[in-house]
Amino acid sequence: MSKAPIRVAVTGAAGQIGYALLPRIASGQMFGPDQPVILQLLELPMEKAMAALEGVAMELDDCAFPLLHSMVLTSDVNVAFKDVNWALLVGSKPRGPGMERNDLIKENGPIFVGQGKAINDHGAADVRVAVVGNPCNTNALIAMHAAKDVPDERFTAMTRLDQNRATAQLAAKAGVASTEVSHTLIWGNHSATQVPDYVNTRIGGKSAGEVITDREWLQGEFFTTVQQRGAAIIKARGLSSAASAAGGLVDHVHDLVHPQAEGDWRSVCVPSDGSYGVPAGLISSFPVRATAKGYEIVQGLELDDFLRARLDATVGELQREKEVVADLLG
Ligand code: NAD
Ligand code: LMR
Repeated sequence: MSKAPIRVAVTGAAGQIGYALLPRIASGQMFGPDQPVILQLLELPMEKAMAALEGVAMELDDCAFPLLHSMVLTSDVNVAFKDVNWALLVGSKPRGPGMERNDLIKENGPIFVGQGKAINDHGAADVRVAVVGNPCNTNALIAMHAAKDVPDERFTAMTRLDQNRATAQLAAKAGVASTEVSHTLIWGNHSATQVPDYVNTRIGGKSAGEVITDREWLQGEFFTTVQQRGAAIIKARGLSSAASAAGGLVDHVHDLVHPQAEGDWRSVCVPSDGSYGVPAGLISSFPVRATAKGYEIVQGLELDDFLRARLDATVGELQREKEVVADLLG
């Protein structure tokens, strides 16, 4: 018997990421090849945005995806989040050249108050949320605070793109296929302070820091390339990453709904429970293992002094972002 469709809301659905993302959801790459989906697509209530959304929906129709059960196009948050099982919060302003992601905080933050409330009031009992709109960790925190009745652990933000970037850089440096790189781990904020972990990430099953012995590269170029990749793409394209961001979100949600084996993990920003000295009350990137019941933060990983100091710094930035949006946290 075929599965019942699930409802998936995507905000900013006519934007760059939306355009790259929706065909991948509709073709089964996010939820699996036997899971039909109803796409509930939110855009701004402006003629141009809604017309663009109609065009995206026409293209999705024209793909005749077997798993695409139906679509709802709306500019009303209450309609967009009605009965949704997953809310993918992409819609918000991207940064331009010369900006840091948290320069967007005052402009984008308020969006997540209204959306968090609507998710709270209209989402399905099992609703889960993935935030992409920047600064995504702090926006996820805002939505989580606004959704008083939804358990905190249902809120996640995305460092999967950073994980994938780190995997690609390590594979290239080691001269191996990206499939040889596993357990790739990003700690902290999705920002220029994020911490790509070369101790716990593995190449061919060994610590990346043992396989690549060039410490200067690991702590220098590797770090800055991953931390600054978003800016490098904006500089090159004149627009922020879209295909790779959509790919990151497909991987993020896919791996949260398809559990990992014990000992494995993915980089996911989740509410801290105090693990690794990250204060509870922040949403930070951790090693996260999806389980049949939800997920767990993998415990017991060791960091060297360099990584520990960087983790403290990125956590300090998350704390400062939280202070900036204190008025939005209710
Ligand atoms: P975009 O400007 O192409 O598209 C954003 C869309 O969101 C637009 O169509 C806009 O009309 C819509 N929108 C804006 N406010 C909205 C609201 N309140 N409700 C519904 N829709 C709304 O931008 P993009 O390139 O798709 O990027 C979207 C966001 O994702 C940006 O904040 C960007 O910085 C972020 N991003 C995050 C990551 C990550 O790894 N976390 C990666 C890439 C981009
Ligand atoms: C990215 O990492 O590509 C996105 O967060 C966009 C940006 O502003 O860097």
